[in-house]
Amino acid sequence: MATKFSSKIGLIAATVGSAVGLGNIWRFPAEAQGNGGAAFLLVYVACVLLLGIPVMLGEFAIGREGGTDAIGDYKRISPGSRWWIVGGMGIVASYMILCFYIVVAGWTLEYLVNSVTGDLFSGIADGTSSFGTKMQDYVSGDTKPVLYTVLMVAVNMLVLLCGVRKGIEKISNVLMPLLFVILVVFCVVALSLPGASEGVRFFLKPDFSKIDASVVIDALGQAFFSLSLGMGILITYAAYFPRETRLGRTAVIVSSLDMLVAVMMGLIIFPAVTSFGMEGESLEGATLVFVTLPEVFTRMPGTQVWSVLFFMLLLFAALTSTISIAEVSVRFFQDRLRMSRRNAVLTVMSPVLIFGTLSALSAGPLSGFRIFNLTFFNLLDTVATNILLPLGSLAMCVYAGWFAPKGMIADQLGNGSATRSVATRIVMFMLRWVAPIAIAVILVAQFN
Ligand code: PFF
Repeated sequence: MATKFSSKIGLIAATVGSAVGLGNIWRFPAEAQGNGGAAFLLVYVACVLLLGIPVMLGEFAIGREGGTDAIGDYKRISPGSRWWIVGGMGIVASYMILCFYIVVAGWTLEYLVNSVTGDLFSGIADGTSSFGTKMQDYVSGDTKPVLYTVLMVAVNMLVLLCGVRKGIEKISNVLMPLLFVILVVFCVVALSLPGASEGVRFFLKPDFSKIDASVVIDALGQAFFSLSLGMGILITYAAYFPRETRLGRTAVIVSSLDMLVAVMMGLIIFPAVTSFGMEGESLEGATLVFVTLPEVFTRMPGTQVWSVLFFMLLLFAALTSTISIAEVSVRFFQDRLRMSRRNAVLTVMSPVLIFGTLSALSAGPLSGFRIFNLTFFNLLDTVATNILLPLGSLAMCVYAGWFAPKGMIADQLGNGSATRSVATRIVMFMLRWVAPIAIAVILVAQFN
């Protein structure tokens, strides 16, 4: 039997830690910018409530019922069937994601270190360097990105070696509150910049003319990624949930906090860029955090302090996500292959050094090395995010809605109560009918 999280707060902190990642911080603002601001936000919230939460609950129920790794859960619950393949897909997807996301986590550490030393800002004031050039150096170089990837692998290993309670839970208990404090500080500062209200208006004024089918599909994909669905993570973490944990309440808290972070990022970024007249700048992922925001910081008093705080925020978000995704494979090796925790962590993380290095070099020296015309980094990202995640979630919904032992999911949702609440019935309906169809649409849309 897997260990359990030792407290309610720890359980929420760890699960929110997984959900709150770069998806919220650098994907959400870009999506909102291009897709009608608050109109996108509304569609996104609807996707989380109607589909994200039910799918999350499906994963929670399977994970807590099985009480072991993502493959083992299906084997225990439906012995003799092939449904374990769904768990296997989650493990493969999570491992692929780990191998490129760890590189991005490495960049955040690299930016943090260079904010502390001041290197990030050297040569900026006198125009001998620019943030674009810095990014070239930090992200596309041949040694630094690899070095920081290796460092991040080491930090992840340290946390994982300490175990579920003393490692994952403890670090989440510290980093998540800190992350929220930093976010609040940034919100207050951004909202009090001159001209901030214009940015808020841009973000919160819905432009419904931008909403079409493809925006809805984007919002759904964003919701699933942001909630860490289909990655085997929530199934794995749910095995650490005690019997008394109320799954519905947990899912609502986790999703709400995850959405809150996305909204707060919007309330930071839009006022900041409009206040400094940088609305035209790209808010696209890496450029937003590595070029646009440092530029914003240089225009504020206390440049270095803001930069250090911001990259700490990014690092905390990235670290609590990478440990959750690595835990999927660690639990698998521990439970399925009966390895000690130490050996499981070593077995999982050693190959990440190789694949992570290949991903890290994809932005620089290996950018010409392509498979299906994609760099190694983009190949992992595309196959995992666009194909395996939706496919895995779809199969999980079909299993939970139709093939899991009768009443098992509903029993888990009601903590064993014989009466089925309205909420449980709605979740079951979503898992059976609405979620599989919606996810199938996303999947097909990827190929158009
Ligand atoms: N919910 C996470 C995010 O928004 O970034 C998704 C995630 C990605 C979790 C990568 C873990 C991970 F390693």
